[in-house]
Amino acid sequence: MSISISPSDRVFVLTGAGISAESGLPTFRASDGLWAGYKVEEICTPEALRRNPALVWDFYSRRRADCARAAPNPAHIALAQLEAQLPGRFFLCTQNVDDLHERAGSHHLVHMHGELAKSRCEHECGRLPVEDHAVYASLDQVPHCACGGRMRPHIVFFGEIPFEMRRIEREISESTLMLVVGTSGSVYPAANFVHWARQAGARTVYIGPEPPLNASAFTHIVEGKAGQVLPGLFTLA
Ligand code: APR
Repeated sequence: MSISISPSDRVFVLTGAGISAESGLPTFRASDGLWAGYKVEEICTPEALRRNPALVWDFYSRRRADCARAAPNPAHIALAQLEAQLPGRFFLCTQNVDDLHERAGSHHLVHMHGELAKSRCEHECGRLPVEDHAVYASLDQVPHCACGGRMRPHIVFFGEIPFEMRRIEREISESTLMLVVGTSGSVYPAANFVHWARQAGARTVYIGPEPPLNASAFTHIVEGKAGQVLPGLFTLA
């Protein structure tokens, strides 16, 4: 299978945990979905942060450590190369909080669910998120903001609104080709992007080892691992 990209195409890419699977970072739903006996959906919530901030920080500290050990795989690199070949006509939206796209050379991207390598004040005090790669061994190591609030991971928890939605909606409405890579299609609003793209008249292609929950909305499904399928998938006309 080859996907042809013409000079008039504008490409919107959505990636999920599956694109980082071959870098050794586990997906959310492929395993038993448990961490330290908790469901991930029970840890990544504003309520969990209030009730048990030590647990939430432990979870994200370990994910920071895992991410620091991981390296971009051929799928991340293929997308960075595609961006370089399509100046001004390529937009990448990732649900992932790792920085493997950036480390592969992607520039034009948004992290709609936040970034592992940043923290922000738990209160909405107006101060911007700060870069933070620290792996905290305990809650008392987690720094506080100038306003007194404890820092929290700069992550969109379940029930919170994803970042950059206006820009994402605009980019989808202008795109003619949507590529969705390695996401189960179970978390909204990202699972709806394919429907928005179809409404805008775009071709929609899913790449992953199994069809996602929203498979019926795609014009093509390319079954396979992202790192094996993406390099060499595109033909630029
Ligand atoms: N290449 C491509 N896809 C893969 C690969 C691979 N090598 N390995 C697994 N996958 C696919 C799986 O088939 C599955 O459909 O990746 C998908 C991972 O799905 P999820 O674990 O549900 O991850 P994702 O869809 O990114 O989750 C969405 O949920 O927990 C929240 O905020 C979190 O961003 C996350 C969101």
